[in-house]
Amino acid sequence: MIVLGIETSCDDTGIAIIRVSGKKRPIIEILSNVVSSQIKTHAPFGGVVPNLAAREHLKNIEPCLKTALKEADLKMKDIDLITVTIGPGLIPSLLIGVNFAKALAYRYKKPIIPVNHIEAHIVSAFSGENSKFPAIALVVSGGHTQLVLVKKLGSYKIIGETRDDAAGECFDKVAKLLNLGYPGGPKISEQAAKFEIQNSKFRIQLPRPMITHKNYDFSFSGLKTAVLYLVQGQNSGMPALDGKNQEFIQELCYETQQAIIDVLVSKTVNAVKKYRAKTIILAGGVAANKELRKQLAAAAKKIPHSLFLIPDFKLCTDNGAMIAIDGYLNRKSASKNYNKIKADANLRI
Ligand code: KG4
Ligand code: ZN
Repeated sequence: MIVLGIETSCDDTGIAIIRVSGKKRPIIEILSNVVSSQIKTHAPFGGVVPNLAAREHLKNIEPCLKTALKEADLKMKDIDLITVTIGPGLIPSLLIGVNFAKALAYRYKKPIIPVNHIEAHIVSAFSGENSKFPAIALVVSGGHTQLVLVKKLGSYKIIGETRDDAAGECFDKVAKLLNLGYPGGPKISEQAAKFEIQNSKFRIQLPRPMITHKNYDFSFSGLKTAVLYLVQGQNSGMPALDGKNQEFIQELCYETQQAIIDVLVSKTVNAVKKYRAKTIILAGGVAANKELRKQLAAAAKKIPHSLFLIPDFKLCTDNGAMIAIDGYLNRKSASKNYNKIKADANLRI
C-alpha cells in the first residue's frame, strides 16, 4: 500500500510517501519525506506568524508534492491513500493542507484519512517496535506540551498539559530574548553545550515551575520572565547583558535547558510510576533535544522493565512521514465523503 502524507499544521510544509508491506506486522518504508522549512520567513519575528505561514504553505505545497513523487519514483495514480493533518494547529496553515488534500483526492478519486497531529507525533516513535501498553507519551513541541496516557494505539487520555507556554515556545522565546535566532531550541542547546565544556561554576539558578505539584501539568511562561529579568539585570545582582557577555549567555542557555528538562523528566517519571506504564515515549520537535533524550533515557533506565522509545531525529520535528504512518494505522477511517474532512485548530487527542 502506498500512502501520501500531508502536513501543514504550523510552519513546515511536509509531504511524504511511504510504502507499507508485510501481512502480520507492517513494514514501513519511507520513500520520500520532503520538508520545506519557513525558518527564514519567521526568523525576523522570533516566532511563527500564522498568515505568513499559510502564504508560504500555498507557495510550497505543490513543489513539495512534485519532489516527493519524483524521489519516490511514483505518480499520483500509484497512491492508495491520502492522509492529512486536520488539527491541532494554526487554522490558516491547516486549511491549506486540508484543501490541497481534498483537491488531490477529488481529482484522482482517492480516499482521505484525517490525521490528529499529536497522535502522529506519538506513533512516529513506534516504527516497528513491539511496544507494551499502557504507555506514557511526553509530547513536546512549539505548540504543545502534553503527557498522554496511551492505553493502546487509538485510545488516549491527556493526563497533563501546559497551562501557558509550550516547552518549545519557551526555548523559542528565551532565544528571542537573547537574540540567538529562530527556532530557539537548537540555538539554546548549542550555546548550552559550550557552557558545559568550558565551565563548572554556576552563577544562575532558574525556577523549575510546578515541579513539586502533585499533578502532571506544566507552566513555562514564568521561566521566560525569570530569564527576562536576568537579561535586564533585575533581581540578579549582575549587570544587564549587553549581548557581548558570551559566557553568561551560555550559562543562561544551559540553565534554561536544564530547568525545562528537569520539569519534563520529573513529571514524566511520576506519571510512568502512577500509571504503571510499560513504555515511555518522547515525541515532538523538542524530542530532537539531545540532552532531553539522554536524561529521559537515563531516568527510564532506572524504572524496571520499561521500554523507552524516541523517533529518529528527522521524524521529531513536523514532517509528512509521521502523518502517513498515523494515517495508515487509521486506514479504517478512510472516506470519499470529502465534505466531512474539516480542519480543527483545537482538535484533542
Ligand atoms: O513539532 P514541531 O516541529 O512543531 C510544532 O508542532 O510545534 O516543534 C517545533 C519546536 C520549536 O519550538 C523548536 O524550538 C523545538 O521544537 N525544537 C527544539 C529542538 N529542535 C526543535 N527544542 C529543543 N531542542 C532542540 N534540539
Ligand atoms: Zn508538531
